[in-house]
Amino acid sequence: MTTVLKLGGSVVTEKDRDETVDGPELDRAASAVAAARSGGGGDGSGGTGDAVDDLVIVHGGGSFGHPNAAGWGVTTEEGTRDADGVLAIHGAMTTLNKFVLRRLRDEGVPAVPVHPLSAAHRDADADLTLPTGQVRTLLDEGFVPVLHGDVIAHAGEGVTVLSGDEIVAELAGQLDAERVGVCSTVPGVLDADDEDSVDEASVIAEISSFDDVADVLGGSDATDVSGGMAGKVRELLALDVPASIFDLDALSAFLAGERPGTTIRGDEK
Ligand code: IPE
Repeated sequence: MTTVLKLGGSVVTEKDRDETVDGPELDRAASAVAAARSGGGGDGSGGTGDAVDDLVIVHGGGSFGHPNAAGWGVTTEEGTRDADGVLAIHGAMTTLNKFVLRRLRDEGVPAVPVHPLSAAHRDADADLTLPTGQVRTLLDEGFVPVLHGDVIAHAGEGVTVLSGDEIVAELAGQLDAERVGVCSTVPGVLDADDEDSVDEASVIAEISSFDDVADVLGGSDATDVSGGMAGKVRELLALDVPASIFDLDALSAFLAGERPGTTIRGDEK
């Protein structure tokens, strides 16, 4: 069974301090992944005893990707042809990727990097091509591939941002993933725009259409060049399998087979 897990950029970085890793949160995520791969629940939250076998991790940009992309005026739609911009944004993301890999390796997870800039592109209609043969083969050989939001070649634009959410959606389809999870800083999609008053009741349990939640999906607080929660929900609604949005407290539960937080289930599922 293949699982695609996104670790949101604001989970693994301090989103308000440029290019700063959130070490304790990244450690928590890495140890939950390690525990799940060995069949435990991690964090003492129980587990089914079933080890998560084929796992692909995708991480976002947080305070590494977003400020650099914004500084160069690059989004998922607006590009740059300046090589210094490409190197600044991609370089920040590969730096973050090395931190993520290091923590996973420290926990014994056989994590290896896959950098989208070297593999993916968009055509002039912005249609994405993301080859996944290397990801599938790495999985089959026992590795945990770790991809990340990046900049990629975009016909007519130079390079544009490829968000971690787009990668998750593409991988889920191509790898026939049965489980898709997005670990965020909030416990799910909230039915109010006020993150300070989060409680169980304000987490929307299930979303099956964007119209249901269009009015509660405001923008993200810190710089976000790839669409915030609204973009996430749109990407996940298009999948053939249900997807979950949850926070770090629920990562072990998700990896143990549960559906914490908000379940995004497009119409035909
Ligand atoms: C953004 O990826 C990547 C860059 C800005 C280069 P994401 O959009 O997936 O990042 P987060 O999770 O929102 O931080």
